Amino acid sequence: MKALVLAGGKGTRLRPLTHTSAKQLVPVANKPVLYYGLEAIRDSGISSVGIIVGDTACEVREAVGDGSKFGLDVTYIPQEAPLGLAHCVLIAREFLADEPFVMYLGDNFLVGGITDLVDAFREADNDAQILLTRVAEPQFYGVAELGPDGDIIGLEEKPEYPRSDLAIVGVYTFSPAIHEAVRAITPSARGELEITDAIKWLIDNGGRVRSHFVSGYWRDTGRLQDMLECNRIVLEAIQPDVRGTVDGFSEITGRVVIELGAVVENSVIRGPAIVGAHSKINGSYIGPYTSIAEGCVLEDAEVQYSIVLGESTIRGVSGLTYSLIGRNVEVSQASGVPNTHQLMVGDHSRIQVRA
Ligand code: G1P
Repeated sequence: MKALVLAGGKGTRLRPLTHTSAKQLVPVANKPVLYYGLEAIRDSGISSVGIIVGDTACEVREAVGDGSKFGLDVTYIPQEAPLGLAHCVLIAREFLADEPFVMYLGDNFLVGGITDLVDAFREADNDAQILLTRVAEPQFYGVAELGPDGDIIGLEEKPEYPRSDLAIVGVYTFSPAIHEAVRAITPSARGELEITDAIKWLIDNGGRVRSHFVSGYWRDTGRLQDMLECNRIVLEAIQPDVRGTVDGFSEITGRVVIELGAVVENSVIRGPAIVGAHSKINGSYIGPYTSIAEGCVLEDAEVQYSIVLGESTIRGVSGLTYSLIGRNVEVSQASGVPNTHQLMVGDHSRIQVRA
């Protein structure tokens, strides 16, 4: 069995971060979302992985390499434009050959791995197996409708009026029968070849398609609130580990990881939280559910429930919460009068300040 991991796409909902970097590489507890998926694939016993890459191919290649650090053998498959999930299957035909495979959307975050799912598929003789979970806003997902005996009786991609609250999770398993389906369908209203339509085609043409409910936690990390939620979930289970230096004036409580080379002085850190390698935290408060990546500087700063990417500086600013701060960003206090905010921010940024 092989795996097809989708790491293309534009990541429009995480702009401006995704102007310069791949959405699948935004870190959750200081580790890119994509790595969790690759580890889950490896743990399920699959080693041959094709990764679909788009505009951010260089960055994904740099982060994943040949896959050996994950115990995987990775092949990159370039997609010229984000033309849909079924299009990814279409262009991966040669790589996939005639083997069954698991398709994993690189921005999906699934706690508990995929081993059970892959094992169940290996045992059964199905053409497709999809995962479902109940969500509050099904209109943003593929939606399944089940009959009284649990059979799938309807599938729709992002319907305006969803017929159920059962969202399709971005981890699918397929037999080679899917190749005929992706060739048979036509682009949707948003101009993409939808995998949901290909699965529907399988059902309509006598294919065996089964669904399972996701037992653990699942999120599509395409939006800020979902990124922060995943970060919270992972940090809640993190093993406390202090490898950096913490001075005697600092207070560390709860599940806190301080990575190698980080220095914490005169500060309070209330876990769950993680401070990345070589970051310097001085006179600051880091509150629960916060991930500070490597090489950051926090001075007289207060941050909680947030993700701060590498090499960023926060100086003299308190009350930062529910925030996602990119790489090499500087957030500092404006001095003098009048009481002003000075901003230089990228396109598509979102800033909320208390007046
Ligand atoms: C895709 C699928 C959708 C699925 C979702 C899960 O949507 O098209 O059916 O529910 O992933 O993350 P996308 O996030 O690519 O718009």
